[in-house]
Amino acid sequence: MQGKSMANPNAVAAARNPKQRPVKTVKKRVDAIATVARWVVYSAPKGGTGKTTSCKNTAVAAATDGMRVATLDFDPQRTLGQWHELRRPHDVARIDHYEGTLDAVEDALAQIDPAAYDVVFVDTPPSVELFPEATKILLRRADLVLVPTGVGRFDKMSVIPWMEFLRDYGRPSAFLLNRVKRRSVSLREAKLELGRVGRLVPHEVPDIEDMHRVDDIGCSIVDVGAVNGADECLGAWYFVRHELGL
Ligand SMILES: Nc1ncnc2c1ncn2[C@@H]1O[C@H](COP(=O)(O)OP(=O)(O)OP(=O)(O)O)[C@@H](O)[C@H]1O
Ligand SMILES: [Mg+2]
Repeated sequence: MQGKSMANPNAVAAARNPKQRPVKTVKKRVDAIATVARWVVYSAPKGGTGKTTSCKNTAVAAATDGMRVATLDFDPQRTLGQWHELRRPHDVARIDHYEGTLDAVEDALAQIDPAAYDVVFVDTPPSVELFPEATKILLRRADLVLVPTGVGRFDKMSVIPWMEFLRDYGRPSAFLLNRVKRRSVSLREAKLELGRVGRLVPHEVPDIEDMHRVDDIGCSIVDVGAVNGADECLGAWYFVRHELGL
């Protein structure tokens, strides 16, 4: 009985001096910091650079790492939503999913309770530059903007001006190289060229067949674990986590 009350600092303080106010614990402060969701937005003007794939993989890595995770899909194609519908929550790390449209961006953002999540991962359609006002609202909410890109000439021609815009607009951002061939000359050259205008996530995701195969069961390669590319996706999440201060 005595041992039990000794474990509680408030009980000890109250026994010594009944008028003393309860001891404030550090945990309370940590909880308060953790109750505001961070927002990570995936965007690139060009289609097919890996926005949805990267969004999904990082979200799974974060959920596997114990974060409370939501995804928000702005793409009318609903690729992320379709994937989420295939996901079986009892088998895999939990992710809550939301959808919205860029012409009602405020409503889409407002449906997510920031106290309920640690991180919200936002997928966007290609050509977001055609919706400048909505895109700016979304970007202002972002704690980090990730710009997935391949190493090809036309990918780079699209994402380099986009990164310049993000920097001018004052948003924390980084390129995420996707579908790369490890140790190739084109990867080395792309890293140099992209690194001139923006930061790079220090893990490039290789081009791998399993990326498609796990989609069939609403999984990510990170859910599956020891497959080619999973470590790079996990590494990308660790970069994001550090950037968000989590
Ligand atoms: N690292 C990878 N390895 C193999 N396939 C990949 C990889 N990344 C993406 N893919 C495949 O490339 C295609 C395009 O990827 P994804 O849908 O993620 O691009 P996106 O930028 O979201 O496209 P959109 O602009 O149309 O929304 C998909 O079929 C996806 O499975
Ligand atoms: Mg997409």
